[in-house]
Formats: sequence, structure tokens, C-alpha cells
Amino acid sequence: MSGSLLVVGTGIRAGHLSQEAIAAIRTAGAVAYCIAEPLSRSFVDELREEAGKLPAEDLHRFYANDKPRMQTYTQMVERILELVRTDLQVAAVFYGHPGIFAYPSHESIRQARAEGYPAEMLAGISAADCLFADLGVDPATAGCQMLEASDFLLRRRRLDPTCGVVLWQIGCVGHGDYQGSGYDLRYMPMLVEALSAFYPPEHEVVVYQAAHFALCDPVVERVPLAGLPTARINAVSTLYIPPLFSQAIDEQVLAKFKIKTFHGTGA
Ligand SMILES: C[S@@+](CC[C@H](N)C(=O)[O-])C[C@H]1O[C@@H](n2cnc3c(N)ncnc32)[C@H](O)[C@@H]1O
Repeated sequence: MSGSLLVVGTGIRAGHLSQEAIAAIRTAGAVAYCIAEPLSRSFVDELREEAGKLPAEDLHRFYANDKPRMQTYTQMVERILELVRTDLQVAAVFYGHPGIFAYPSHESIRQARAEGYPAEMLAGISAADCLFADLGVDPATAGCQMLEASDFLLRRRRLDPTCGVVLWQIGCVGHGDYQGSGYDLRYMPMLVEALSAFYPPEHEVVVYQAAHFALCDPVVERVPLAGLPTARINAVSTLYIPPLFSQAIDEQVLAKFKIKTFHGTGA
């Protein structure tokens, strides 16, 4: 049992690949990847070629139109585990941070460990990291809730309008299958209605897409909440909802602390 698993992330664009992820990709006995962005994919292919290693195999082949995404993820996990069981040091590569909204990476680590194989994950740069940089948002200032859009609706989750909110996967809200050419947005009015329990219709929200290529600008569309159904939203859009109002400081708690003022920046 000399197999092992290291799950790494490419970040959102090719320049985000960390030195430790590059080393893992170069040295692994086998690499399996699921990377949407073509430059990062070519970069991984080149790293393998330069190192004289077997080409990376593409896990994206398990996706198919109308197929439940969970079925695809299960097949990805099975394939990663098959490679680990052949006693190879396996690097599984996912885009962004491999542990953020990435079921197959967590599940393959869980299963590998359950079978007695060493399995670890390296952090990567996620879409949320890019969002904080591009929109100039520090989550320390007002706090930040992160939710998945369908999960928000299905579980009737509560939002705190004094916090910022990052809502992932708005572009496939209500859909459990895969659609290679994009999802219809028929459930967007439901999403707006649910958000309207916490925000007025004129509250400005941001439809955000981090740039996939260096030197390109991110796509940042600011719209009133009520205008969300007509915004340009696709499968890689993330919604940022700024706080509606700020939470007052409890003066009694502040008096107990040995600080005079508090800015909440963590500084
Ligand atoms: C399956 S999750 C993968 C997230 C990824 N692991 C990460 O760390 O960013 C897909 C969701 O991530 C977000 N996302 C992916 N790429 C993005 C981009 N370029 N800009 C903004 N959000 C993005 C969207 O909310 C999208 O629906």
C-alpha cells in the first residue's frame, strides 16, 4: 500500500498555481484533473511533459449534458481512488481552492484515508479570494456569510443583513444536472423573492466573475436586487451582497475590553 493522494488547486487563473502545487503536479506518479480554464489545463499538461511523466488524465470526461452532477462527482472519486489503489502517488487537481465547493476532492480524501492511504489537501486561490481582492471587500469589517444558492433556498437559511454575503452557484440555482452550454435561470425570481425577505428591492448587489486570464478585468455588474433576473449571469457567476446596515458595537462589551475603539478589521 504505497499509494497516496494529494489534492491541489490551480486557483482561478494559471498564475495562481502555487509552488507547492506545481511541485506536486511534477512529481506525482499520476495526475487526474478537473480544470475548466484552458490555460491552467495546458500549464499542468506542460508540467507533466517537462517532468517526463505520464500525461494528466481529464476527469471532465465524466460530465454529460442532463446527467446529475452528483453521479459525475461519484465517478470522479471512484477514478481517483482506482489510481491511488495502484500504489501511485496521485495528485488530483481541481480549479480554484480544491476544498471550496468541490465535493469530489473532500470525498476522495475521506475514502482514501478510510482505506488506509495517506491523503492531504493543499489550499488554493478560490473565486472568493479573487472577489475580496477585486471588490475591495475585507470580510473582517462586517463579517461574511457564504452560502450555496440552491442550499439557501432549500434550507430556508437565514441571512444577517449586517454581514456581507457571498452566494455561490447562482448560475445553476435549482439545477442538479450538468448543462455544458449553461443553465436556464428559471429559478432566479425565486432567489430574488427569498433574498427580499432580508433586503429591499433597491439594495445593490454585485454579480461577479473573476478574470480567468492575466491582464483581463473581472466582470462586475452592480444591479438592484430586483434587477437580478435580467443581469448577465452564467455558470461561474458569484453574487456578492454588501451589508444593508452596520451592526452597532455593544458598549458594555467594549468597556470590558482593554481597547478604546474597535474597527473590526483585525488590524
Ligand atoms: C463548483 S464551484 C467551484 C469553486 C472553486 N473550487 C473555487 O475555489 O472558487 C463553482 C462556483 O464557483 C464560483 N466561481 C467559479 N469560478 C468563478 C469565477 N471565475 N468568478 C466568480 N465565481 C466563480 C461560482 O459561484 C461557481 O458557480
